[in-house]
Amino acid sequence: MIPAAGRGVRLGPGAPKALRALNGTPMLIHAVRAMAASRSVSLVVVVAPPDGAAEVKTLLDAHTLLPGGATAGSTDFLVVPGGDTRQESVRFGLDALPPGFDIVLVHDAARPLVPVDTVDAVIEAVRDGAPAVVPALPLADTVKQVEPASEPGGPEAVVATPDRSRLRAVQTPQGFDRAALVRAHETVTDDVTDDASMVEQLGLRVVTVPGHEEAFKVTRPLDLVLAEAVLARRRL
Ligand code: C5P
Repeated sequence: MIPAAGRGVRLGPGAPKALRALNGTPMLIHAVRAMAASRSVSLVVVVAPPDGAAEVKTLLDAHTLLPGGATAGSTDFLVVPGGDTRQESVRFGLDALPPGFDIVLVHDAARPLVPVDTVDAVIEAVRDGAPAVVPALPLADTVKQVEPASEPGGPEAVVATPDRSRLRAVQTPQGFDRAALVRAHETVTDDVTDDASMVEQLGLRVVTVPGHEEAFKVTRPLDLVLAEAVLARRRL
């Protein structure tokens, strides 16, 4: 499932983030191709901006999803309208998921360049029995915990420095036993920034597999430059 209903405000003004082009192709199409490249992925559910579902459907129909035809034809697509938050968008996607799919991956449209080996590693770890799996990378930066500033833009007091060696930056696709993910979405009402944290709150085991630097999230304008450079390098 690809939640793609965000506005992408941090990227600057323009179309919803998922529909912005990377080397001439919308980011969402890159993300869909990245998932469909896995032989294990037989259905891609795209959660579209609420007012853009028809546009997204047209886009998916217009693009040959796998240049070279590697696994073209073996993947089905479904488009559903999203919600106000990422969490709500994922829930709408889960509600639309037909029976018969026991493993669900949730992948941000904003991570268009994730390599297929990362997708397959996540799937394999769920097949091996983990209810939830996240691709994870060590951190390059030291992380500080701060108190909110008393006035906007004011200094923030540092209150802690967690041990960096035990921290991980997590990416998507995150992989789930479908029943666990559905239960998490039915049970957890707190605001969260990823799906695995909801499964953590159920007390279920969440494990990591190695992430990949090319699975970075396109969030700010500089990330667009980096993404286009990665695509150019892949074509060499
Ligand atoms: O906002 P953030 O960068 O965390 O968004 C991650 C992913 O969630 C993006 O692919 C975005 O399109 C999606 N999203 C969504 N519905 C929302 C907000 C974000 O599908 N209401």
